[in-house]
Amino acid sequence: MPPTHSVSPITLSCSRCGSVLAPHAGHAECPTCGGLLELRRAPPALHGPALARLFAGRRGALDGADASGVWRFRELLAAADGDVITFPEGNTPLLDGGIAARWAGIPGLRLKHEGLNPTGSFKDRGMTVGITQARLIGARAVACASTGNTAASLAAYAARAGVPALVCIPAHRVALGKLAQALAYGARTLLVRGDFDACLRLVREAAHRLGVYLLNSVNPYRLEGQKTIVFELLEQCAWQAPDWIALPAGNLGNTAAFGMALRDAREANLIDRVPRLLAVQAEGAAPFAESFREGFVSRHRVTPNTVATAINIGDPASYDRGVRSIRDTNGIVTTVSDAEILEAKAAVDAAGIGCEPASAAAVAGVKRLVREGIITAGSRVVGVLTGHVLKDPEALVRYHRDIQPTPALANRPIEIDATVKDFERALDGLGTGGAR
Ligand code: F0G
Repeated sequence: MPPTHSVSPITLSCSRCGSVLAPHAGHAECPTCGGLLELRRAPPALHGPALARLFAGRRGALDGADASGVWRFRELLAAADGDVITFPEGNTPLLDGGIAARWAGIPGLRLKHEGLNPTGSFKDRGMTVGITQARLIGARAVACASTGNTAASLAAYAARAGVPALVCIPAHRVALGKLAQALAYGARTLLVRGDFDACLRLVREAAHRLGVYLLNSVNPYRLEGQKTIVFELLEQCAWQAPDWIALPAGNLGNTAAFGMALRDAREANLIDRVPRLLAVQAEGAAPFAESFREGFVSRHRVTPNTVATAINIGDPASYDRGVRSIRDTNGIVTTVSDAEILEAKAAVDAAGIGCEPASAAAVAGVKRLVREGIITAGSRVVGVLTGHVLKDPEALVRYHRDIQPTPALANRPIEIDATVKDFERALDGLGTGGAR
């Protein structure tokens, strides 16, 4: 069924072999060569301040597509925007980093909190577009491989749309909050004996053979939605581009979407210069950083192992798009250790903001580049927090309660008798600025 509400026609083609496809035929990857697909829509009629005013004017909407921090940017999205499945999502805050900014050595660091989306991660921005598309094409079922957040998001949006959903999750490396969400929202949850890369291989093959609609970030509709993180962040900076945007990098869907969004924003005259992207990987799962160090002459694959389970990925699917984003923005890919990730997380959490471990990698990456003198203290830096503090309660409690020796920012719980004397002793131990 063709879309009836789109603003201008959308085209879909393969970035590898050039095949041109019908945008609503249900392909998430090229059926000819397996390459990544690219969506295009004619540039919007408005640009610059007029376009910015159109976007801002929708922000006060109480319901419908305009109330969504994704669909209010629809002129810049190559997606059918008729009967959308929306909670709404997006419209997340850009916060001053507080203690976390001081920890990173950038007093002006600001944090875009994508963990405050309806299912607690940035995935909702892509999923509203992906599920809207799935319903438009009449998909019999939708599926994804996931380290957890995509599964949680897919499960919720599929439930709202009334489309059956299957999610493939690594059996032993999924954070508790994410597994709980997938189960709660009613997705058929497959705990795969293997890592994320094995899950993705499986679901790609299954989608191809069984005609299920694939909603991983290789699906170009997902990336259209994720572009709006950048549009909204730029809007919150009054369209004055920051010097740097830092984000965690795993399967590279978001790195790809950020590069695309910056290209779109520049072409629409919304910004007059492009920020540098800082993509941050965990040392134990850093194939993209390895390629970056060699000037992207070759693609690497690794067996991943990091505490930040969301980015525990060894063979990123959006590699080519990720490379383009880093090249286009004069970007950098760096790595941080698990200990640095956990300390950055404790700093973000102690600022009252909170995030999951993978998100904190972005802040740890900023600190690393400050230490290396690449980011200077006066730089305008925005870090993107991709997931909510409650996504991974086990890693969180382990850090504060169990790890030996006591980590620098641990907030050890204190067991007491139910006496005012014990309570008072705890009160006396508090400094003016909190427990730490
Ligand atoms: N941060 C969080 C919280 C994530 O869940 C992910 C990816 C990333 C960062 C990395 O983004 O893959 O686009 O480079 N999570 C996927 C999932 C893989 O299945 O939920 P990316």
